Amino acid sequence: MAFGNITGILLEEIIAIKGKLRMNLSRLVVPSRSFSASAVRNAAINQVTVIGSGLMGAGIAQVAAQTGHKVNLVDLNDDVLKKAENSIKTSVSRVAKKQFKDDTEKGNKFIDETLTNITYMTDNNRSVATADLVIEAIIENVEIKRKLFSSLDKAAPSHTIFASNTSSLPIKDIAESTTRLDRFGGLHFFNPVPVMKLLEIIRIPETSDATYNKMVEWGKNMGKVTVTCKDTPGFIVNRLLVPYMMEALRMLERGDASARDIDTSMKLGAGYPMGPLELADYVGLDTSYYIVKGWAEKYPDNTLFENVPLLEKLIKEGKFGVKSGEGIYSYKK
Ligand code: 3HC
Repeated sequence: MAFGNITGILLEEIIAIKGKLRMNLSRLVVPSRSFSASAVRNAAINQVTVIGSGLMGAGIAQVAAQTGHKVNLVDLNDDVLKKAENSIKTSVSRVAKKQFKDDTEKGNKFIDETLTNITYMTDNNRSVATADLVIEAIIENVEIKRKLFSSLDKAAPSHTIFASNTSSLPIKDIAESTTRLDRFGGLHFFNPVPVMKLLEIIRIPETSDATYNKMVEWGKNMGKVTVTCKDTPGFIVNRLLVPYMMEALRMLERGDASARDIDTSMKLGAGYPMGPLELADYVGLDTSYYIVKGWAEKYPDNTLFENVPLLEKLIKEGKFGVKSGEGIYSYKK
């Protein structure tokens, strides 16, 4: 009997100690992190916000909408958004013409559904209120990107994944402006986004497995082939492509060959769809200029990133390539 009582008391004590331990353990876990990890694992990416409606942002929004996501496309004012809307309408029609060439009715339905999936907005914070994924595609300036993400961090739900489409800046430098490094990564698309199949996924050391897996899954749902890269300058494609375009400009600057002959050579001799100078004009000379300038400042000893005076001259003259009507070539009608 006494033995039974002792056992009873011991049992009560063990239960009490276990209870206290459980309470203390629950206090040890950082609430937002534990919540977010499981929430990220569980939440499907349905609602996407794209900030920046330029060439890349509009393309990303379009492909997300084409693949059934609800998209908020955000920019500073209605005029810029109207331009993006027009370019999306033209591009979706091209996609529909290709995908549904024998069925106009289905093609029109695809166009209508895609366009209905996109909402155009100017309020950053409101645009992320129900977002599962936010992709930033604004100007290549780390301070401006940090300011944006710091504000979005307070406005977006805890489970929301943040990503930058930066071409050249370190993802970590941008992510550190937020409190959600485990829910941050890079999603780097290629121009024209509706056509180019590749999506580079960039992990920083803090990116959680749940976030990374969601980004890969989402990329596949977008119809893209995904590759993974560490947070290194230019990731995979731009690290190879940008020095190649710069070398073509240096070749032109030295007078080794004409622009046409350099481009023809790489198309017919190496099987590229565009020559390096055509591509530089297509991507935007300003884009390449700022990428190389940033790298040269950060890595002054790397000769691949050396300034190209011809590129600087074209930029000063406002010749940015296809988008401004003139670059290495003229696009004036
Ligand atoms: N939207 C929808 N469809 C488009 C499109 C767009 N914006 N642009 C082209 N297309 C479709 C066309 O409808 C056409 O379809 P079809 O074959 O059924 O007729 C097809 O793509 C081919 O287009 P075009 O006939 O007009 O022209 P091309 O055959 O010359 O192809 C190109 C155009 C796809 C752009 C091709 O020249 C190409 O692949 N160029 C290289 C592009 C490249 O390297 N991009 C990466 C740049 S780097 C980058 O973006 C990274 C960033 O960080 C700087």
